[in-house]
Amino acid sequence: MRATATAQPNIALIKYWGKRDTALNLPAVGSISITLSDLFTSMTVDFDDALEQDVLHVNNERNDTLLPRLSHALDIAAGDARPRARIHSECNFPIAAGLASSASSFAAVVVAASAAMGIERSVGELANLAGRASGSAARSLYGGFVELENSGDAVVVSELLPADAWPLDVVVAVTATGPKPVGSTEAMEISRKTSPFYERWVSDQPDDLASARDAIASRDFSALASIAEHNCLKMHSVMWSSRPPIVYWNDATLACLQTIRQLQSDGVDVFFTIDAGPQVKAVCDKAHTDRVEAALRATDGVRNILRSGLGEGARLS
Ligand code: DP6
Repeated sequence: MRATATAQPNIALIKYWGKRDTALNLPAVGSISITLSDLFTSMTVDFDDALEQDVLHVNNERNDTLLPRLSHALDIAAGDARPRARIHSECNFPIAAGLASSASSFAAVVVAASAAMGIERSVGELANLAGRASGSAARSLYGGFVELENSGDAVVVSELLPADAWPLDVVVAVTATGPKPVGSTEAMEISRKTSPFYERWVSDQPDDLASARDAIASRDFSALASIAEHNCLKMHSVMWSSRPPIVYWNDATLACLQTIRQLQSDGVDVFFTIDAGPQVKAVCDKAHTDRVEAALRATDGVRNILRSGLGEGARLS
């Protein structure tokens, strides 16, 4: 009763922030993301009746921090009465630093656990199960440009455009390593309950989704850049206006935004997005990736750079 699956993280261009139902982990808003190719998480799930509890190893080291949420994901995928499992995770990028490692982990674990239990599920069913573990994970079941629609008691996830139809690159400027001050699950609830801008964030989202959908359909880079940056800054405004305020940025985060503004005024096709962490993700046309990387690498406070193209959805290995 063992299977291995691989998934890549995704980066939201139109963000998920806020929950409609915390028990089912249903998002309050739809979202649009791109799935990456070069960063990956591989998960092996080995169910064993002889085990008394789940055991997790990440990159060959025992890890009890991530275990509770992964055990919960196994319960979602295989039922509470499942056998306990040995979970082995391999990840080629930093975990829990705002790089969407949870999305790839939960997507991969749901695919691996379903196969290990011998349960056949459609990609839509797998996306719903992954989304119950972590909202953004539902999107990593699909490749390329992905939309998660917020409708009814389930989420509908679909591929808007395959990865090779508009092969953009993503350059991630890592400005801090280590875990974030507050996890996104908790932070979203603080925003929902306290930000005076939260309701407006939710009610405006359909317009932002429609603009991004149009930009993607027509491969209009500057239209996508404009709506993605706007949506990102709006989400962070909701975070900043929460009580207590939720501020993930550091000096280098802001310095990277200035670098990207300078590149844009020099005619480079690039835009930024930032999630629940201080890293800056620069999405760019492949013709400009080297220049974007060099500029971000030279920005004060940038510790490391990761590069990726767009890739496929989660799959069994
Ligand atoms: C800022 O999917 O991590 O990255 O459902 O509580 O696990 P939970 O939240 P999570 O939130 C992701 C938030 C975001 C935006 C996004 O990816 O859409």
